[in-house]
This record gives sequence, structure tokens and C-alpha cells, in this order.
Amino acid sequence: MSGGIAAYKSCELVRLLQQAGHEVRVMTTPNALRFVSPLTLQTLSGRPVRSDLFSHSEESEISHIELADWAEVVLIAPATAGLLARLAHGMADELVATVCLATRAPLVVAPAMNVNMYEHPATQANLDTLAKRGVHIVGPDTGELACGWEGAGRLVALEQLVAAVDRVTAEPTLAGEVFLITAGPTEEPLDPVRVLVNRSSGRMGFALGEEAARRGAEVVLVAGPVSLPTPAGVDRIDVQTAAQMQDAVLQALGRATVVIKAAAVADYRPETSEGQKMKRGASDWTIRLVPNPDILAEVARRKGSRTVVGFAAETQDVLGNARQKLEQKGCDLIVANDVSRPDVGFNVDRNEVWIIGPATSEVVHVPAATKREVAARILDRVRELRRA
Ligand code: CTP
Repeated sequence: MSGGIAAYKSCELVRLLQQAGHEVRVMTTPNALRFVSPLTLQTLSGRPVRSDLFSHSEESEISHIELADWAEVVLIAPATAGLLARLAHGMADELVATVCLATRAPLVVAPAMNVNMYEHPATQANLDTLAKRGVHIVGPDTGELACGWEGAGRLVALEQLVAAVDRVTAEPTLAGEVFLITAGPTEEPLDPVRVLVNRSSGRMGFALGEEAARRGAEVVLVAGPVSLPTPAGVDRIDVQTAAQMQDAVLQALGRATVVIKAAAVADYRPETSEGQKMKRGASDWTIRLVPNPDILAEVARRKGSRTVVGFAAETQDVLGNARQKLEQKGCDLIVANDVSRPDVGFNVDRNEVWIIGPATSEVVHVPAATKREVAARILDRVRELRRA
């Protein structure tokens, strides 16, 4: 930690990192301790806090070089403009900058400061230097700042920092693969203000994108209308209708080595969409629906050496219907889920799935778990197929 007001948030970060399974040691610049007390950090991390490069007692506990060697990742949150400048210039005038110079571990840096300090050409040049050197820079976010200004300079959400650490420490088992993933519902307009839509939240597809990127894959995520943040390291293309999703998928298909169609694509769209808002009237409004293209089947037709994975959203005879879809659509795997259950499937954080394929008799059951965990199991299976 360096000395900015956002240091108070990093106290909670210590806990979140521990909950994610990491061992955490805290080191701070001397100024950080003007914002938070060493006792708070020591109690949360369960370890002595280091802040003084020349302290006899701290150095006897663990020397700054041992600390630099011990760390698998160094995360600086918040990173002030001053610390960024010291890091960019390789200074070793206090403990944090010195450890960053001595360590071989990857460095993740979360800038947080006043907007004018952030936008200053000196800070921008320093960030540029650090990025070129391979430092992972996360944020800052834009919004209301503690100093009263509005703009870029907020520390990003702590979950994003945990995810960044997670990414840096992940084994790049999918490096070299290019994933094309679709997520969310599609929306089919009836008029300028009304749409036909379904209950998909996009969470399963976003979890797949996040996990694939974490494992080193290049990821293109084609997303229907959802309110989810873009996972780090993912290239996102927003679409509204099934036709737009098809265009985006076919355009990105060329480079893809794996396609996962987690989107809940509307099977039908209104034959015509009114140019103006339909007015209320006394008579019925009859809407004629026409079929949308089946994007998955189209992708499977152009499969080549790609691995193609579809989803099956079912409300009855889940396995039977999913097996049929595997054969009809011609994909390698079908991930079947029961979308009639309130506890898993559409619009909740958890899912229970059966991964079927390449033969209809090959089934991997993934019991109810978070969508992130389910995504990990699906990607394990995809990797098995890619290696075979
Ligand atoms: N899918 C697609 N394009 C469509 C409809 C579905 O690409 N127009 C894909 C979905 O993304 C999913 C798979 O096909 O990967 C199965 O979707 P699902 O809704 O379960 O099945 P449908 O093919 O629509 O068949 P049905 O609605 O009759 O179950």
C-alpha cells in the first residue's frame, strides 16, 4: 500500500485475498500508515506489517530481500502518483519501491489518486513506462473522488483486484487458443421502445470468458443486452438482436479455435418492427413471428478444426433433449442445464450442468456450483478435447 485515502479499502482487500486462498503479507510506504494503522493490517493479515526499510526489528522478522523473494505476486493498492513515479524510475528510497525493484514476481498496480494528478502527463508517462515493462495496471475507475473532484482516479472494485491476482497466478493452459463466446439473451424489437426478450442474465457466458482469459486464451465475447462488467482481458462486442449476433459471430469466426455458444438466442423475431411507438388502441395487436437463423448450427457447419460447444436450455427431459441437440446441431459438446429450476440456471449465480459429447453416451455431470466453477469444468473438458 502507498499513502492515499483509498488505503482504507485495502484493509478489506487483505481479507478477500485470504478468502481466495492466498497467503498475504502487507508492506506499506511510510505515508500509508497515516491513513490506516499497522495494527489493523497486522490483525487482518495475521503477520507483522513491514513499512520501514531500515528497521532492525522488522528486518530481523523478514528482510526486504526475503520478502521480495517470498512473494509470488506483488499487488500495490492503492498506488499513488508518487509511488508510480518511484517505480517507473527504479528508485529504492523506501521499502515498497525497493521490494518492487528486488522481486522477480509479477507486479499488479492499482492506481488511485486525484484526477488531475492521474491525468498529468508525468503520471501518464510513468504508467506507460510501467505497462511497457510488463507491469499489470488495473484501473483506475471513474467517479466521485474522495478529494471532491469527479473523474478518473478511484481505486477499482476490490473483486477486480482479486481477479487480477488470480489471473497473474493462473497456469496458462489455454494459451494459443482463441475463444469466441456468446452470452446473454438477444432482444427482438417490436417497435422503438418494446422488445421480445428472455430471462438469460449472461452470467454463464461471462464466467466462461473470464475463466478462459485467466487460463491464457484470447477471448472474444459477443454479448446480448446484459448489465455485467466486461471481464479483464476479454474483447467484448455488444449486440442486440439474433441477426446482429450472427453477424458478429461469423465475422469473428475466422480466427477462433473454440466457439462456445452460451447465449440464449431468440428463436423467433417479429416479422416487422414498427418505425414509431405503437399507440394504445381498442383492438388486438397481433404479432407475427418468423424464425431466426440458428447460429450454432451455422458455426458447426463451418467447423473445420475448431471445437464447437453449444448449450441446451431445457425444462423437461434435460439429458434426452440435449443429446438430440448434440446430434442435430453437429457440435462437439452440449452443456445441458435445466432452466425451469429457481436455484440454478437462468438469472442466478449457480448452475448444475451435464456436459455431453462428443458421443451422446459421454456425459460429465457437474453438480450445482457457482457459474465460475461450472465454467472451469467446461473449460477442462474443452481442453481435453483439444489435446486429444
Ligand atoms: N442457438 C443459436 N441460435 C439460435 C438458437 C439457439 O445459436 N437461433 C444456440 C444456443 O446459443 C445454444 C443452442 O443453440 O447454444 C441451443 O439453444 P436452445 O435454446 O437450448 O435450443 P434451440 O436450438 O433454440 O431449440 P429449442 O428452443 O427447440 O429447445
